[in-house]
Amino acid sequence: MLNLGKLHFGGDYNPEQWPKDVWKQDIELMQKAGVNLVSLGIFSWAKIERSDGDYHFDWLDEAMELLHEGGISVDMATATASPPAWLSMANPEMRAVNFDGVQLSHGGRQNYCAASSVYRQKADALVEQIASRYAKHPAVVMWHINNEYGCHAPYCFCENSRQAFVAWLKERYSSLDELNASWGTDFWSQRYYDWDELVVPKRTPDGTHPNPGQQIDFKRFTSELTLDLYKMERDIIRKHDSVHPITTNFMSMKFTYAMDYWKWSREMDFVSTDHYLAQHDPDNHIDLAQQADLTRGFASGKQWLLMEHSTSAVNWQPRNYAKTPGQEKRNSASFVARGSQGVMYFQWRQSQAGSERFHSALVPHAGEDTRVFREVSELGNWLAENPGVADYPTDRADVAMVYDYEQFWALMQANLPTQDISYADTVAKIYRSFWENGTRVDFVPGDVDLETLKQYKLVVLPMVHMLSEQEEQVYHDFVAQGGNILISYFSNIADRTLRVKLGGYGGKLVRDLAGVYVEEFYPLREGQGKLSNGYEIGLWSELSRAEGAEVIASFEATDVDGSPALTVRDHSGAKVWYQGTELSLSSQKKFLGEICSQLGVSSEGGGSTEVVRRGPFKFEIDHKANTVSLSS
Ligand code: GAL
Repeated sequence: MLNLGKLHFGGDYNPEQWPKDVWKQDIELMQKAGVNLVSLGIFSWAKIERSDGDYHFDWLDEAMELLHEGGISVDMATATASPPAWLSMANPEMRAVNFDGVQLSHGGRQNYCAASSVYRQKADALVEQIASRYAKHPAVVMWHINNEYGCHAPYCFCENSRQAFVAWLKERYSSLDELNASWGTDFWSQRYYDWDELVVPKRTPDGTHPNPGQQIDFKRFTSELTLDLYKMERDIIRKHDSVHPITTNFMSMKFTYAMDYWKWSREMDFVSTDHYLAQHDPDNHIDLAQQADLTRGFASGKQWLLMEHSTSAVNWQPRNYAKTPGQEKRNSASFVARGSQGVMYFQWRQSQAGSERFHSALVPHAGEDTRVFREVSELGNWLAENPGVADYPTDRADVAMVYDYEQFWALMQANLPTQDISYADTVAKIYRSFWENGTRVDFVPGDVDLETLKQYKLVVLPMVHMLSEQEEQVYHDFVAQGGNILISYFSNIADRTLRVKLGGYGGKLVRDLAGVYVEEFYPLREGQGKLSNGYEIGLWSELSRAEGAEVIASFEATDVDGSPALTVRDHSGAKVWYQGTELSLSSQKKFLGEICSQLGVSSEGGGSTEVVRRGPFKFEIDHKANTVSLSS
């Protein structure tokens, strides 16, 4: 297993924003706060390369030396995230074109088209310079490629992107006929007769949307094309450094979802992620726990690292509430409990100028005599006192939940039975129900294999809308071998090209495994409906009948009264539950609690307290009492 060693503590360090006399003070304060790692140079391209091929590393060499002498390690960035003005102004085709065909202006950040050959060549040359220069530097312990790929302009709709998309489609489909059949292009006169007729899914006339198959393929294509950029940089670094691990920082699903991180993770030495709270949400620690568990899933048994979060307020939400005293320790402890090899932030010193000047940092504008600096220093020293935690992975949960970016993308499209469907909200509600019941969850990908599933007492499939035949088979085999699953509504409706499976919605999963024949969807009107067992519902009902399933509860006060809403079917001891509606949080908790107690799923904590174990270490975090305890 890759060993990231000790627990890391620190954050993005941007010395280029400060005069050199501040740098020395930075090192002293870092030592005081217990900082042992900084991410260096993430947004330094313009400072390093001042005109074409004119590289300046003297300032960076100096910063590296100071850090090294101060005993602080470096997560060396490749600086390719934000191309300098001289480059993007000279090559306008480098800048992304949005859904409406508007080319985005230089002046923000991370504005580049992943299909641009100029961007690729210049990024390649820059990484070559940085990797060859610093590969042997004793301060470097890991590499940080680019920054949050896909954050600001994930999709580019320019002509270069179109050509790359067409090339990608030619690889994916054996012929244009196959593409036409998969996308169903005989609908609305969309049939293509030549590859060159294919377009990117830009804005179409009002009330219409690009073809669903085209839309989902464009999302797949973009994730893969962008991943190619990562691989390009990774391979350059590898030529110069065969020792230190390479990563790029992911983003939490709450705010961005353009990259399929399951696929990305397979290309990375270790997974790292960023996470920012929706600070207006009093229960944001549950979203945090979900993102941490999801990241542990991406890491798939390897170590991972929280690369960025905030010491207090951010600057980009409508209202940027500061963290309350003690909140940051709870947040960090939850990440470490769930497997992070440390705690990193954006950023070390709060900027004096620029868009992020009101974003918190480890050293606030007011300096070290501040609540924030005292709290983070206390935290840094607390981590240093518990080095043994780094040696253990987080204990496996009894429950696995399938999480799949492609479902997210499919369910974001228009023209579904109701626009109120939200993959993210459904997953979050199920996760939250488990969390509040004190039941831990591991996340697994949509193409999970049987051996992985067999480790769990219960596997939950929330709105797994598309499944290939091969994937359906895995769940069949799992149940045949004694596995228990819970399938939610609107699952297995289509194959992976979004063609609907005929003969009863849910096909082999809902009809065959769950034993429920679903014939029509009945989205609920506001306030309509309840279940015969008293559970509260919303959003969804369906006209269905049990065909082998035992009905736990049926719909009432709906247009489909008597249709089964919650069912269970026994397959020689293995159980398949089906949930044909969206339950309220309290009903979802009851339903899952009942299932878990039948299956002997363990739970610990609950309510406002989370209890998570890493081997002998037990983290107990009470979000109401605002306390964190770590025992072993
Ligand atoms: C992240 C980004 C950082 C910083 C931070 C602010 O998305 O990687 O550079 O902008 O947000 O919250």
